[in-house]
Amino acid sequence: MFDEFFTMVNTMKWVKEYSVAIPILDAQHKQLFRMSDQLDSDLKQGLRSEEIEETLVHMGEYATRHFQMEEKYMEEVDYPGIDQQRKIHCQFAKTFQDMYEDFKENGLSQEVVEALRRDLTKWIRDHVIGIDQQFGEYYKKRKGIQE
Ligand SMILES: [Fe+2]
Ligand SMILES: [Fe+2]
Repeated sequence: MFDEFFTMVNTMKWVKEYSVAIPILDAQHKQLFRMSDQLDSDLKQGLRSEEIEETLVHMGEYATRHFQMEEKYMEEVDYPGIDQQRKIHCQFAKTFQDMYEDFKENGLSQEVVEALRRDLTKWIRDHVIGIDQQFGEYYKKRKGIQE
């Protein structure tokens, strides 16, 4: 069952089709993909809690800084979807906090590992290729950027 879960979630690579045409945000998205991959493989390898914790804290801080910067770019072009993005970024912060507390309390239980892979690594990838992509399309149109 546990092994099945690991093969269930596919790893995804960042490709240029995911670009939002803002180099700094693209670089951060790539880094978030890399961190997600790293966390996935660390969990799979059964790394110690201390090592996982370090990655988690780093990822949480990195994601927070990224959301702030992304929202600044959204403000700059009066992006109509900014409220939705803000709300989702905020929900993520809350989910992250809950997961982190669960991890601190229960260690790397099966539930915690599954939550980390589903609500953290998968969430990040889906967000980047989902609604961030919609913002990228809007941004390109507003700035007259040709692909
Ligand atoms: Fe993003
Ligand atoms: Fe976003």
